[in-house]
Amino acid sequence: MLSRKFGFDTMQDERVTASAGAAGPAAGLDAALAAYGAQPATVRPLGAGLINQTWEVTGSPRGHFVLQRLHPVFRAEVNEDIDAVTGHLAARGEVTPRLLRTTAGTLWVQAGEAIWRALTWVDGVGLDRIEHAGQAAEAGAALARFHRAVGDLEHVFRSVRPGVHDTARHLANLRQALVTHRHHPRFAAVEPLARRILVAAEELAALPDVEERIVHGDPKLNNILFTRDRTRAICLIDLDTLSRMPLPLELGDALRSWCNPAGEDRERSWFSLELFAAGVAGYARGAAGWITAAEWRGIVGATETIYVELAARFCADALNESYFGWNPQAFPTRSEHNQVRAESQLQAARSLAGQRAEAEAVVQAAFGA
Ligand SMILES: Nc1ncnc2c1ncn2[C@@H]1O[C@H](COP(=O)(O)OP(=O)(O)OP(=O)(O)O)[C@@H](O)[C@H]1O
Ligand SMILES: [Mg+2]
Repeated sequence: MLSRKFGFDTMQDERVTASAGAAGPAAGLDAALAAYGAQPATVRPLGAGLINQTWEVTGSPRGHFVLQRLHPVFRAEVNEDIDAVTGHLAARGEVTPRLLRTTAGTLWVQAGEAIWRALTWVDGVGLDRIEHAGQAAEAGAALARFHRAVGDLEHVFRSVRPGVHDTARHLANLRQALVTHRHHPRFAAVEPLARRILVAAEELAALPDVEERIVHGDPKLNNILFTRDRTRAICLIDLDTLSRMPLPLELGDALRSWCNPAGEDRERSWFSLELFAAGVAGYARGAAGWITAAEWRGIVGATETIYVELAARFCADALNESYFGWNPQAFPTRSEHNQVRAESQLQAARSLAGQRAEAEAVVQAAFGA
């Protein structure tokens, strides 16, 4: 019988064999395995499951692979984008997960209420928090390899998410949440934080007007697989957000994650200039001669922008309670988890604001020489 405890942590080491009749996130698992000709199989949940639900599949006729049940925010056609981009990466000799096809030859299958897909297994580990500057340099190098390799891909994206980094829209949503949820039981706790985020937003520099590039779209630390000794970055995973966007926003999103040693779930956090220097240098080594001056000059401003934008999104969800997944084992309510996340991003933003000149000097030294 397949366990139904698909929560945080609980499943990390639980090895189970798929069987009929599972409920919850696993409903459809057997049908999905069958569609891939992958039965019998042993399945083990992977990851935190904040967005998709992921299983490691072993001992099946299709070998060792990853099976994912897509979150309904993603359209099935996102898999056509993933197939195009990963095919291009592989043709350029880059390591990347690839989509497996079902026995019917499709890139995904509908099973239960959801869309399922399978990916080749890449052996590595994800990091929840950065441990040393060498990892930031490796993350930078891996992201540069990715950007350069997809730079000449011609592809019309089937899945588009307009306004992902429309900071003004995210700030407006936060203001609206303050109006809509005046009677929320946690309003008094959340409102002062929201005001501080809105003040920080007033200081943000305008971002450069540059052409869009093909980007990963969510290059945070745990979307990069490292070798098991945690020293080398292997490749980017979690490809549902592939899109075109101005490069500074992608780099800002990456660096805000890699340079925050506290991770996303601790109230006290800060921006590490040392990690920033390493991440930027790693990226610059791979992207030299490819990235434009207008793009690299936007990195510091974009990093601060993304911190504030993400703080606004978490803070709005501390009242809306409708978007981000949360960890009930670590926080009493969804609102409190989102409030801590928002505080964490704001503290990192303020920490970066206090080191803007030093961060600009780091970028200048890496790209401007
Ligand atoms: N192709 C792969 N090979 C090996 N492991 C993988 C692969 N794809 C995903 N994983 C593992 O599964 C985890 C979850 O996958 P992914 O990041 O795509 O999902 P997610 O929707 O972001 O879920 P989460 O909330 O867990 O981050 C990853 O952090 C990684 O450990
Ligand atoms: Mg992920």
